[in-house]
Amino acid sequence: MQPNKIAITAAPIAPVLAERWSPRSFDHEYVLSQDEALAILEAGRWAPSANNIQPWRFAYVSRNDSLHAQLCEIGLTGFNQAWAPHASALIVIAVKIETADGRENTGRKYDAGLCASMMVVQAQELGLHTHHIGGLVREEIVTLLGLDDSYEVLNVLAVGKVAPAEQLEGPAYEREVAPRVRLELDEIMLYGKP
Ligand SMILES: Cc1cc2nc3c(=O)[nH]c(=O)nc-3n(C[C@H](O)[C@H](O)[C@H](O)COP(=O)(O)O)c2cc1C
Repeated sequence: MQPNKIAITAAPIAPVLAERWSPRSFDHEYVLSQDEALAILEAGRWAPSANNIQPWRFAYVSRNDSLHAQLCEIGLTGFNQAWAPHASALIVIAVKIETADGRENTGRKYDAGLCASMMVVQAQELGLHTHHIGGLVREEIVTLLGLDDSYEVLNVLAVGKVAPAEQLEGPAYEREVAPRVRLELDEIMLYGKP
């Protein structure tokens, strides 16, 4: 059974945003079509970035690639290693640390976050789900991908088809069916009242 994860909002928001959530139970047989994979990556490519620098770089690792299992085994930490192997694809999001003229791009993480958000929304629009993974062993991922030190690995985005929560056990199952919670709007507003 699927838990009800729809966001409760003070005003209606786009269904694709309200219905987005981060499952850990993924269908381990679902294979992303080429169009689905391309659409998600294209959504990221067309994200805005400071000065249009586009610092993001992606590694797309589908489950049928042996790198997928390696990434899960040595590139992820803790309980991420248990659920991420079921995801249809893992997208490693890295950034170029410097701009073309050799200066540190201080906006790179903000830009990459925007880019990841675009991919998440596109996946949701396709009826897929995503789960950001920040629990990484970044140096192992750098080695697996053969990246030089001009890159910084930020996050991995798991993508796939959501599966019944009952596929998980114990604390993982409890988390899967727990209601989604957020701070109230007035707790995060620094100024102004809508
Ligand atoms: C940058 C980032 C890193 C995250 N890292 C992990 C992680 O390593 N493992 C995990 O299970 N969830 C991870 N998450 C998922 C969050 O826990 C989840 O988005 C949050 O609890 C809100 O739930 P929702 O996405 O279902 O609304 C991460 C999310 C973000 C944005």
